[in-house]
Amino acid sequence: MDRVTSVPVTVTVGEEPESNPSANPWFGDILADRLSRRRAISGGVATAVSLAVASDALARGRDDDHHGRGRGKGHGRDHDSRRPLSPTFTAVPHSTADAVIVPEGYSVQVLIPEGEALVRGAAPYIPGDFNSGAEREKQIGAHHDGMAYFPFVHGDAGNRHGVLCVNHENINPELIHPATEGGTYEAGNFRPVEDEVRKELASHGVSVVEISRNNGRGRGSGAWRVEASRLNRRINVFTPMEITGPVRGSDLLKTKYSPKGTRTRGTLNNCANGFTPWGTYLTCEENWAGYFYNTGTRPREQTRYGVPGAPTSTLGWGTRPEDEYTRFNLTPVEGASATQDYRNEANTFGWVVEIDPLDPKSTPRKHTALGRMGHEGAELAPVTAGRPITVYLGDDARGEYLYKFVTKDAYRPGRTNGSIFDRGTLYVAKFEADGTGRWVALEFGRSGLTAENGFASQAEVLVNTRSAADFVGATRMDRPEWTAVNRFKREVYLACTNNSQRGVAANQPVNAANPRARNPDGHIIGWRERGGHYESTRFDWFILFAAGATRETVLALGAADSVYQGDVQYAVQAFPYNALKQRFLGEEASLNSPDGMYVARSGILWIQTDGYSSASRGFGNQQMLAADPKTGDLRRFLTGPVGCEITGITETPDGRTLFVNIQHPEGSSTWPNINGETRPRSATLVITKDDGGIVGT
Ligand code: FEO
Ligand code: CA
Ligand code: CA
Ligand code: CA
Repeated sequence: MDRVTSVPVTVTVGEEPESNPSANPWFGDILADRLSRRRAISGGVATAVSLAVASDALARGRDDDHHGRGRGKGHGRDHDSRRPLSPTFTAVPHSTADAVIVPEGYSVQVLIPEGEALVRGAAPYIPGDFNSGAEREKQIGAHHDGMAYFPFVHGDAGNRHGVLCVNHENINPELIHPATEGGTYEAGNFRPVEDEVRKELASHGVSVVEISRNNGRGRGSGAWRVEASRLNRRINVFTPMEITGPVRGSDLLKTKYSPKGTRTRGTLNNCANGFTPWGTYLTCEENWAGYFYNTGTRPREQTRYGVPGAPTSTLGWGTRPEDEYTRFNLTPVEGASATQDYRNEANTFGWVVEIDPLDPKSTPRKHTALGRMGHEGAELAPVTAGRPITVYLGDDARGEYLYKFVTKDAYRPGRTNGSIFDRGTLYVAKFEADGTGRWVALEFGRSGLTAENGFASQAEVLVNTRSAADFVGATRMDRPEWTAVNRFKREVYLACTNNSQRGVAANQPVNAANPRARNPDGHIIGWRERGGHYESTRFDWFILFAAGATRETVLALGAADSVYQGDVQYAVQAFPYNALKQRFLGEEASLNSPDGMYVARSGILWIQTDGYSSASRGFGNQQMLAADPKTGDLRRFLTGPVGCEITGITETPDGRTLFVNIQHPEGSSTWPNINGETRPRSATLVITKDDGGIVGT
């Protein structure tokens, strides 16, 4: 189930031919594209060298598809990126061990655990987490989530050296404060210790980390390490941010901090992510509502998102008197105007935020045109010169919607930057029972989104994205998590993680796209845009996978299994099932609560889980599976430590290094057991194949 430990939010609350998908820019192109425009960036020494190399590579033209011979033997074959490869590893069984387990022939390294020193002058992590709030501002944050690797160099060196941007979604208060304190609270949830609150804000946000792989021989060869780089940066809930797009300057965003409604401080609950062809990182604000409270009358832009009426028992940041904390109390100050208090502060959260990993002094930008919601992720469809850019967006809460954003302007390689997100159309998805669907524009003046109906401007539509989607009758989905674009098949997938309210809540009846009552285990839905363009307003959809325990297990549990009562009509989907091939899948494919998804360069669809363990259903710790795009097979690649969620995934351009995050190991977990620390810590895994091959194949 989704993490709500520390934030008890009520979440009930292209014209290009298909035969040539390699024309789509991929990781390898990303940095080269912008480095060609931006030579002046002065990074660390290693960075400067890389930039020079990148320019050379650029002069030679694009070669990203054919770099890297592999460092082991037996790899004469370079991957033809136009054809998807199949998984070849032997599946691992479910596990309850407090460990990361991968198939035979693979190795795992732990990188950047929570609290590790990052920025110049940072204090080392102190076991038991005795670091101060000020110290944490220079250390790796908590709850690693979505991430992207940006190779420095266009060519093989980019497989060994780059920048990793990592989200820090949340915190376990009991794990970031020393056991003797455990987070200090007083009556009314007042937070008497300022440094604790500072540490909690500092543990959220994003880390920008320059990393490289040691390619020497012998001890330590092949291992990745963090560079002492001036690019290393912590972005947290204090970092000044610029508001861009249609909501910039709106009355709804004016605060004491920004009377013009153009700026805010910080980013919160950064869940999944995206990245752009111009080499920037997109981080998405998901469950931000629970950090705020309003003891007065809450307007719809708060109630529709679940802002509570009192400080939560675990955080209560807004009870502190200092300006940077009291802003989390949205209660209007009597006699004050909106520019004298923080009644609008929450309206500056719930956006997709763009970060430039190559400019540590840059101000992150919150792109309001992409809507305000519980943003799970922002996945760009492959871009094509001369066509608009399409971004897929999930809003993760029970019964929320699937969105996409299409830019007004066309993509121009080498010229387009983040300002393209200032103008465009936000659409919400409507799934019809006949397998067709359409994208409905959430545009002021269209579809009844007018002043008479409560939407007086595009700013009002966007701040109230959920209400606007309600109004146009979009399809309520089973908690839309990550989306992933399969460029090989021109398909897009959405993980519907689970939804206990399906068929229970009056506004969430069972429907064709969400076919299982109470959907305890989730499913993955897919679609193809009509006419072969991602910006199309019509699509054809299908269920790709249904999740569940094995058929044998569920049948044995039978009617005594209360979770499945009432599911008889849809019983087939309680099992791992390939709906396209109409095939039951076995133990190696049993899963619940699909969440993170990513179609790798290899073509493998990776699926990560954030669900429950259950001995009776045969589910162990959370896991990552590989789906074969050709056969529809699904098999378990990795199992995580106790209490964790597996989330976040990115890779080097050659696909030979995969980065995956372990988020919030907890309970009896002591993972990753570094330097005698027995507290569990979130961390990044670096996964390689021992023979140097492409991970998963
Ligand atoms: Fe942060 Fe919906 O997962
Ligand atoms: Ca989840
Ligand atoms: Ca999480
Ligand atoms: Ca997630």
